[in-house]
Amino acid sequence: MNTIVMTGGTSGLGAVAVRHISAAPQTRLLLGARNAPPDGVESVPLDLASLEAVRSFAATVIDRLDGAAIDTLVLNAGTLRPDADGRTTDGYETTFTVNHLAQYLLLRLLLDHLRRGAVVVATTSGTHDPTEGAGLPLPRHADPYLLAHPEHEPEQFRGAEPDGPAVAGRRAYTASKLCTVLTVRALKVLPQLRSRDLVGVAYCPGQTPGTGLAREMPRAMRTAWRVLGRPVGVLVPRLNTPAAAGRALADLALGDVRPPAEEYYAALRRGHLVWKAPSELARRDDVVRALWDGSAELAGLATAPGSADGTERSGQGTRPAGQDPSGSTTDRSPGRPTRRS
Ligand SMILES: NC(=O)c1ccc[n+]([C@@H]2O[C@H](COP(=O)([O-])OP(=O)(O)OC[C@H]3O[C@@H](n4cnc5c(N)ncnc54)[C@H](OP(=O)(O)O)[C@@H]3O)[C@@H](O)[C@H]2O)c1
Repeated sequence: MNTIVMTGGTSGLGAVAVRHISAAPQTRLLLGARNAPPDGVESVPLDLASLEAVRSFAATVIDRLDGAAIDTLVLNAGTLRPDADGRTTDGYETTFTVNHLAQYLLLRLLLDHLRRGAVVVATTSGTHDPTEGAGLPLPRHADPYLLAHPEHEPEQFRGAEPDGPAVAGRRAYTASKLCTVLTVRALKVLPQLRSRDLVGVAYCPGQTPGTGLAREMPRAMRTAWRVLGRPVGVLVPRLNTPAAAGRALADLALGDVRPPAEEYYAALRRGHLVWKAPSELARRDDVVRALWDGSAELAGLATAPGSADGTERSGQGTRPAGQDPSGSTTDRSPGRPTRRS
């Protein structure tokens, strides 16, 4: 039996992937969902805007597995918000939490239940990469403390003109997707994780209109997203369809497509999956390490790389000593605080 645990399977390309995965023989899918799952799909309640809900989801999944190992973990859920003003019950910025921190915590809590050599597919976005020219505001860093508490970004860091709400919301999205790539890279480069032989894939579905991703955006963008998602979208070659993007996600989840040696970033471009390098910042191992440890602190976990014990920590984001977690593309403020809560 092939056991797959997944987030983000109730809408958009994830819902397409769920249909393919559910139709695969000898496959058990456990779907984390905050809303009603598709008919016949085994689901467990999960709201990624709450770290407590993630812990509860992981505990239920482990209980239901009854000792069976997970073959594939699919972290597909994502949100795009009109601003970066939302805060979760944990007090962290919402996009960062839903897209990165909560799914990082889920990975950590399930790590010891993944079989050796298991596949971890996490959906990212090429918008994190300046070379893609996607047009969204680019991430300036991958500092988990500042992404969780953007109000603490020092002036030198955010530039003379602070982002307006719309730009801040989109930058929170691209930064969260940078975090996704870095988390997948961690599986390859952090020593204790490497020994687990996990197959990590950061999957970028490319621009895929017609999904629910624009649901919280202004009306003009929602309308464009809906129109381009209809057959007219097929006429724009650089756009992908939810059908193609969901099929590619299912292929990766079912192991029908596997990364070539040393590759871990798969991008769907013009309907074809290509293996490529993510952004320069996404390839920096010091940034990988700092994000991994900083996210652990924020999620209340032990920071040791690869530790999946879920040990509670009292800290609410104390920066690990001696680390520069930002990967900043601007000069650093010498007086930056080391604790933000
Ligand atoms: N569409 C694109 O152009 C594009 C491009 C690059 C990357 N992506 C990424 O692809 C993934 C799928 O997006 P999509 O375009 O298919 O959008 P979508 O239709 O909005 O799907 C998003 C999925 O994430 C789930 N989700 C969102 N917030 C959640 C929360 N707080 N707790 C639990 N689940 C939550 C949604 O559940 P509900 O049904 O409950 O809302 C839904 O299943 C996302 O990670 C997105 O960032 C999309």
